Amino acid sequence: MNKKIDFTLNGKAVSRDVPTHRLLLDLLRDEIGATGTKEGCGTGDCGACTVMMNGKPVNSCLILSGELAGADIVTIEGLKIGAELHAVQKAFVQDGGAQCGYCTPGMLMMSKALLDSNNNPSEEEIRYALSGNLCRCTGYAKIVQAVQDAAAMLRSKNP
Ligand code: FES
Ligand code: FES
Repeated sequence: MNKKIDFTLNGKAVSRDVPTHRLLLDLLRDEIGATGTKEGCGTGDCGACTVMMNGKPVNSCLILSGELAGADIVTIEGLKIGAELHAVQKAFVQDGGAQCGYCTPGMLMMSKALLDSNNNPSEEEIRYALSGNLCRCTGYAKIVQAVQDAAAMLRSKNP
């Protein structure tokens, strides 16, 4: 069943007439062209598809378009602030937190979600927050370092 869905994507109003069972991940990638969000497992296990929905991280492969009415969605395309990269983006670049980069959009969105609520997380808290985001390349050490450095950048701006 198709339905007109109105929601906000990266600060802009979006209106789409779509089947209510279409996955948010497919809506973003195939209809809107926001291909920064990646599909890994398609079953909620890898975190590659993580986006923010109403300020909370969600797996977009588990969200139906019918749930989107009035929602505020932020994807990796909306993470930078104006022309400036978000601190997590800067730190992942600086620390080599990405190798093939496939997991990186999801890692960045989940890291942002963590730092939104805790700007001084311990290594254990970072590893726990990212435990649903799988990376086949990095061994996670540089990712954890990048999140710690992003936290330090954010604290230096807002002590
Ligand atoms: S593609 Fe959504 S969690 Fe893996
Ligand atoms: S950088 Fe390749 S899967 Fe994480």
